[in-house]
Amino acid sequence: MAQLTIRPLNATIGAEITGVDFRKPVDAAMREALSKALSDHLALVFPDQSLTPAEYLEAASVFGPPMRQHYSQYNMPDFPNIGVIHHRDGQLPAEGWHTDHTNRECPPAATILYGVEVPASGGETSVANMRVAYRALPDDERTRLDGLRTVNSLDRGRRDVRDEDMEKFGKPVVHPMVRTHPVHRSRALYFHPTKTMHIEGMTPEDSKNYIDGLVSRTIRPEIVYTHTWRKGDIFVIDDRATMHRAHGDYDRSQSRILWRIIVEGDRPELRAV
Ligand SMILES: [Fe+2]
Repeated sequence: MAQLTIRPLNATIGAEITGVDFRKPVDAAMREALSKALSDHLALVFPDQSLTPAEYLEAASVFGPPMRQHYSQYNMPDFPNIGVIHHRDGQLPAEGWHTDHTNRECPPAATILYGVEVPASGGETSVANMRVAYRALPDDERTRLDGLRTVNSLDRGRRDVRDEDMEKFGKPVVHPMVRTHPVHRSRALYFHPTKTMHIEGMTPEDSKNYIDGLVSRTIRPEIVYTHTWRKGDIFVIDDRATMHRAHGDYDRSQSRILWRIIVEGDRPELRAV
């Protein structure tokens, strides 16, 4: 196995990893080391990668089998498991905190982004450690959250959903609001504010108010890593214990193109301690 160097990016989340060239095959020992690094640090940066779409799919599969993304109009025609995030292509930056594709029975284990074109400044991606967010809550609220479940579908209020995607991915799916990480075995808050139709037993309005309050109370600067993009960065986000958001504060005459792959994960569950 090549020598990995893992450098934490702040006290609670994020690590930069050097010593990996994703153009070369990744052996079983390296896969396991990267899986552990992801579950420990929750956001991994691999700088200076230079990959074709086929090589990028191979690289991403180190973290799990790539899975199809909804909003299929943004998927790369020849490589439909790569979504192209390009805000000049009619897409709006996802600026609200969320975790990806909670409308799937088995949502992704990880979201992987590759910086193809990046603006001179701004346009960062932030990731929050929802494991620490959960631990910081008072005991009685943690106990309450352990019993809550969200009902998820495609985002409320989006107008760019194709009928075929709504048919395939729009059916309601229920997930626990606290899930146990399958590798790390710790618990984390888990929900998507705009894919949650409601929390079971609560009205949509009460659910939205509670979730919005939870986001603003728990996501403090000390649990966030904000990634400033460099061309060639691969950024891997553990979707099982984080929330993330894009920053739209860059010069829109410049391009920001990220290739996105999501990889298969487990069905979220809360395990007994
Ligand atoms: Fe996202």
